[in-house]
Parts: sequence; C-alpha cells; structure tokens
Amino acid sequence: MRLWVTDIISKVGEEVEVAGWVHARRDMGKLIFIDLRDRSGLLQVVFTPEKTELLAQASELRSEFVVRITGKVNARPPKQVNAEIATGTVELEALTFEILNRAKTPPFEVDKDTRGVSEELRLKYRYLDLRSERMQKNIRLRDKIISFFREYMHENDFVEVETPILMKGTPEGSREYLVPSRLHTGQCYVLPQSPQQFKQLLMVAGFERYFQIARCFRDEDQRGDRQPEFTQLDFEMSFVTQEDVLRFTEAMFIEFAQSLFPEKRLAAVPFPRLTYAECMQKYGTDKPDLRKDKNDQNELAFCWVVDFPMFEKDEEGRLAATHHPFCSIKEEDKEKFMKGEDVMSIRANAYDLVLNGYELSSGSIRIHEQELQKRIFDLLGISEEEQQARFGHMLEAFTFGAPPHGGFAPGIDRIVMLMAGEANIREVTAFPKDGNARDLLMGAPSEPSKQALDDVHIRFT
Ligand code: AMO
Repeated sequence: MRLWVTDIISKVGEEVEVAGWVHARRDMGKLIFIDLRDRSGLLQVVFTPEKTELLAQASELRSEFVVRITGKVNARPPKQVNAEIATGTVELEALTFEILNRAKTPPFEVDKDTRGVSEELRLKYRYLDLRSERMQKNIRLRDKIISFFREYMHENDFVEVETPILMKGTPEGSREYLVPSRLHTGQCYVLPQSPQQFKQLLMVAGFERYFQIARCFRDEDQRGDRQPEFTQLDFEMSFVTQEDVLRFTEAMFIEFAQSLFPEKRLAAVPFPRLTYAECMQKYGTDKPDLRKDKNDQNELAFCWVVDFPMFEKDEEGRLAATHHPFCSIKEEDKEKFMKGEDVMSIRANAYDLVLNGYELSSGSIRIHEQELQKRIFDLLGISEEEQQARFGHMLEAFTFGAPPHGGFAPGIDRIVMLMAGEANIREVTAFPKDGNARDLLMGAPSEPSKQALDDVHIRFT
C-alpha cells in the first residue's frame, strides 16, 4: 500500500511504498539522490551502488517524472538530519522503482517560488505553477478558510442554499455577463453579480438565517483585488438590527483569526467604528489601513465603516445607489428621504468591514416594505414601468409578509489574500483570469462555432 512520505518517519527499518514526483535529482556518480514530492511533502530517496541495475535506471530520472518506489526506511545519522523538511530524520533506500510517467522539462522551475516567473507563463501552465510549494499552501489555506466559515455558519443555525447562476440582473453597479437563450430568441440570462435578491427572497421564504459560499460574476476592469469571477461568504439574517449583524460578524472574525492564525495579532478589539463621513475626513478614503506598521502582515487592523450615503452620482451625473438600491434609510434621515430633500446627505443602514486597507465586505439592513422600495426606485429615476419589469418580483414579494432583514458578504478571495500575505487575489485563486480577463490556460474567451451562434440566434457584426 502506498504511504504519504511524511508518514514514513515512524517506519524506520520497514519496507514501504511511496509515489510522487521527482522534485530534484542529485547524481553523485556512485550514488543518486532524489527528493520525492507528494501532497504531504518531500522525502530523500537514495539509489545505492550495490544495486547496479537500479542505479542505471535511476540515472534516467528527471525533474517532474512520476514514480513509484519501494524501499527500506533508514534513520539518518544525526549529522545528516535535514531540519528543513518534515522527513529530514529519515531516508528511503530504494529497492525497486517504476516510472509511471515521464515529463518534459517544465517551462519554469516548480521547486522554487514562482513569483519571479512571467505571469503569462504561470497562467498558461497553471497546473505546473500550482505544484510549487507556495501555491499549494495558498490553495490549501483557501480550503481551510472556507471550511472554517462554513462550519461557523452551520454552528450558528445558518442554512446553505444554492441560488441560481442563470438569472435576471442584480443591480450591484457593475456590468453583467450575458448568457443568450437558445429557447427564447433574443433573450438572455445574466450571471449573478451576487445572490443579493435571492437571499432577500429566502428571508421572505422564512429561512431566517441563510448563507452560501457564492460565486459572483462582474464584468469590470481588473485590479489586484478584483477578478471577473470571485467568491463571497454571502449571508442574510431576519429580525436583526445593524448592531446584531456587526456583532455577529465581529465575533466570527475574532474566532477566525484566533483559531486559524494564532501567529497574527488583532490590532484592536472591539473593532473601531468610524462613520463614513469621519473616515473620509480623517483618512481621505473609506478603506483606511489602521495598522501601526503598514508592512506588518501579522497585524490585523479590522475596522467598521458605517452610515454610508444612500446615493452617489454616477459618471453621467445621474443619481445612483452607493451600495445597492435595497438598503434601508437611517431613521434620522427618513423625513428628508420621504420629502426628497437634500438627497445626497441621506444615509443608509449600510456598513463595510475593512482590513488593513482593503474593503473585505459590504452589507446593509434592507428595505422590507414595498412603499419604501418604490420610493428608492422613484428617486433613482426608474419609471413605474421599468420598476415592474426589472424588480416587480421583489416589490411583490414584499407584500406577502417580508420580515425585516439584513446581511453581509465578505469576499473570500481578499480574506485569503491578506491571510496568506499575498499582494494579489490571483495568487490565492486556483485558475484565475489574467489582467485582461482572459483564461490563458484554456484560452477563454474564444470564438464560438457558427452552429453555437445559430443555436442562440446571434450574429456578430
Ligand atoms: P459588494 O459589491 O460590496 O456587496 O461585494 C462584497 C465583497 O465582495 C468582494 N468583491 C470582489 N472580490 C473580488 N473580485 C471582485 N471583482 C469583487 N467585487 C466584490 C469584496 C467586497 O467587499 N450583495 C452585496 C452584499 C450585501 O449587501 O450583503 C455585495 O455584493 O470583498
């Protein structure tokens, strides 16, 4: 039976079978050493001169060949112990081996940090890039983080519900990806920018506590902390105030940091709270980096920014929702809101969580009454007809006993990036798009066949 290489430390004197990739090879003439790599780590294997035939075969081995080896586990003499690797106290003396597959010389060295390699090459050969130790660590860390959140949510009575990927638009402010329909000529689905509307409808449906590790899609310009598709820890709660959501989230992130990252320090608990106005005045940004040492990756300076303005002006000077049009209005500003006076000063029950200068999450207490929702759409200049066409389902749902509700949606990619000490979310995403939103590995986007276009009734001009 094949063992992980790290499991053989306790098997000194025994004969074992291991398998993996040739990480490195050192040919000393009379002796050949290889470092064998599997998912658990590295192991030194030695081919000794007594086994002439074996040694000759081993001289064929090259980096990244896939092999299966049986051998005897020997303890290393104290002087030869290698503290750098987990199996450094032992060595495997090869008895038999088999080449399971050969490998071409990789376009870059995967036994080193690949940060210096051109990104184009790394993304084209992502499956090789992902073999490197740092990338393996990052992707495994991502799994650990997602699993923490999933467990935390379940422990707190949230239910995970999958919401549709093929849907009608969500007004999160970005351009949407369109999916043309074959069965309905001239019509399209869009990919969700977030599950915003569905999670609110799940509150109307009585689930009270929903979450989802949700894939989101936005056709926006790329940056280091943005991808066309990304993942949110999306959640929503019924019968809650803003204070409830903030407290719940804060407790979750404190436990997250303390249990998964004991080497890191929380700069301040409770997390400082700033109003949007204070924050802009003091720091000139709504995502301030409150660390004492801005280069210290082990300092976690969380802060809340609350009381975001409900409205902003878009590029064409039209009124738009700062966050999205489903945010409720602060009690103190309701009168202005109903009168439609001084609208730019109207504040929403909307909040962000910021970590070390990055916006980790946004959320709000929502509107759950039809009249107020219509009022927002009116102020945004959305005609009655358009309101019905785009959001009729939401307006109607609110007339069937919608409970008060609110939620939040921390971005998983940014969380993993900051915890891994990386500068870009591409480093913590297994198969990311490049800066021009291309998938260099598969070659997407690509030109569809004529048949595929005919099927969905599309002709490019
Ligand atoms: P918002 O649009 O602010 O809110 O998104 C919430 C969080 O998602 C992450 N994020 C991204 N991560 C990577 N690439 C992107 N292109 C990208 N865009 C956003 C960020 C951000 O803080 N439905 C609301 C949430 C709510 O109101 O509950 C929403 O999506 O970490």
